[in-house]
Amino acid sequence: MKTAKLFVDRHLTVAEVNPNLFGGFVEHLGRCVYTGLYEPGHPEADENGFRKDVARLVADLNMPLTRYPGGNFVSGFDWKDSIGPKEKRPRKPDYAWDAMEPNEVGVDEFMKWCKLANTSPLYVVNLGTGTPKSAQECVEYCNFPGGSYWSDLRRANGAEHPHNIRWWGLGNEMDGPWQICHKNAEDYAKVAHDAAKMMKMVDPTIKVCANGSCNPGLPTFGDWDYTIMDRLFDVIDILSMHIYFNGKDDDFPFFLAAAERMDHLVESAIGCCDAAAAHHQSRRKVDIAVDEWNAWSRAKSEGNQETKWQVGRSLVEETYDLSDVLVVAGAMMSMMDHADRVKLACIAQTVNVLSLIMTRPGGPAWAQTTYYPFLLMSKHGRGGIVLRSSQEGPTFEVKKIGEVPFVRSVVIHHPDKNEVVLFAINRSLDEDTELQAELGSFQPERILEATEIYHDSIDAANTEGNEMVAPAGIPESRLSLQENRLTVTLQKHSFAMVRLAVKQ
Ligand code: AHR
Repeated sequence: MKTAKLFVDRHLTVAEVNPNLFGGFVEHLGRCVYTGLYEPGHPEADENGFRKDVARLVADLNMPLTRYPGGNFVSGFDWKDSIGPKEKRPRKPDYAWDAMEPNEVGVDEFMKWCKLANTSPLYVVNLGTGTPKSAQECVEYCNFPGGSYWSDLRRANGAEHPHNIRWWGLGNEMDGPWQICHKNAEDYAKVAHDAAKMMKMVDPTIKVCANGSCNPGLPTFGDWDYTIMDRLFDVIDILSMHIYFNGKDDDFPFFLAAAERMDHLVESAIGCCDAAAAHHQSRRKVDIAVDEWNAWSRAKSEGNQETKWQVGRSLVEETYDLSDVLVVAGAMMSMMDHADRVKLACIAQTVNVLSLIMTRPGGPAWAQTTYYPFLLMSKHGRGGIVLRSSQEGPTFEVKKIGEVPFVRSVVIHHPDKNEVVLFAINRSLDEDTELQAELGSFQPERILEATEIYHDSIDAANTEGNEMVAPAGIPESRLSLQENRLTVTLQKHSFAMVRLAVKQ
C-alpha cells in the first residue's frame, strides 16, 4: 500500500474559511430556472411557483450567495423586462443560448427564492448590451429605500423594503470571444469603471466584483487581469475568475489535477492584483472571487437544435460521477489553501445545468455525486482556520503540469469547537493509500466522525431514485489515533473527511 504524510501545527495558519466560498450560481440557462428551481403546478411548488424540494436541497448546502441571473445570458438581458405584472412582461429570445425567455422569474421573484433557499444574490449586471446607466437604475430599483422613480416602482411591484443586495457582478466573462458584445480589456475596464462608480453613487455599501479571466487557456489570461486590476483599482472590491475542469475523456490525469489547476489560477490572479497594487503604490490586497467553477467535460453547449427558442430547453446537463467528486473536492481544497485571498466562490451551477442538483419536470429532485463533497465541506469547513500543511507522498505525472501527489488534503481548525477536520482525496486509480497526519502541537482526544465518498467504479453516478455515490462511514479498522498522529487508509479514488476532538 502507498503511504502519504501530512504535517500541520495549530500555530501555522493560513486564514479563516470565508463562508462565501460556498456560493452557488443560478443562470437563466437550460432548465436551471424553468423546471429547475421554478415549476408552477409541480406538487412541491409553493405559492410563487418555486419547488420546495429543490429549495430544501439548496438550503442544506448553506450557500450564503447565489450568483444570478447569468452567465452568458446576462450580456443580452434587460432586467427591466423582468419586473412588474407577469402578464405584461415581454417574451424575448435569449441569443446567448438560443432559447426563449418568458421573464416569469425576475429580480423580485428571485429574492423570494433566495429566502426560501436561505441564500442571497450576487447580482450580475449586463455590461454587454447594457449600460452603466441601466446598472445604476438596477441598484436604485433594488437598494434605494423609496422616493425615487425606480425604488417606488419596486414598492409598487410589491417589495416595500429594499432588497439590499450587497454583492454585484460587473458583467459576465467580457474577455470571452463568445460573449455578446465581447470587449477588449481597455474597453471593458472603461465601462466597468463607469458602472461601478455610478452603482456606488446609489448605494456606497455595495461590493463590486469585476471580470478577471474566464478561462486560463485564453491568450489574454494574465494580461487581461493586470489591466482590469490596474484600471479599476480605486473601485474594485474583488476580482472574479472562472475555471471549468475539462479533460475527463481526453486527459484524465489533467482532469484529476483540478486542485493544482485551481492553485495556478488563483496564484496568477493574486499576482496580477499585487502587481497592480505595486503600480498604485498601495499595500491593499484585493481578494479573489472564483465565481464560476466546476467540472465540465462532456455536456455540449448547443443542445438539441429542434428545441431552439423554447423556454427552459434542456442544455448543458452534465452527469457527474465519482471522478467529479475528486475534482470538486480538490478544487475546494485549493481555495481553502488560499483562504487568505480567495474569499468568495460560486460553484456553477446549482440546478440542472452543470449542477449539484437534478430535477425531472413533474418528478423528483436528486443530488448528483458532487453535491456531497460540497455539503461536507460547507458544513465542516466553513468558518474554521485553514492550517498550513506540508505533504509528502507518491505522485502521478500530468503532462501539462508535472508531478502531482495522489493524495491532496487540507486541515481546518475550529478553535471555538475544539475540533480539527481533515479533508483528503486519493487520486490513485488502483491503490489504497495510508495517510499519516502528524498534528504537531494539537492534542487529539478522539475521532468524532470519519466519512468517505467511494464506489468501486470511478464512473459511478447518481440518477433519479438511485444515489450510488453518497457519504458513508469509514470503518474503524482503517483508522487509528495515537498521540498526535492520525492514520487513515484512503480507498483508491475516494474522498474522506475525519473530524477530531482536540484539547483546547
Ligand atoms: O455556466 C455556463 C456558462 O459558462 C456561463 O453562462 C458562462 O459564464 C460560462 O462560460
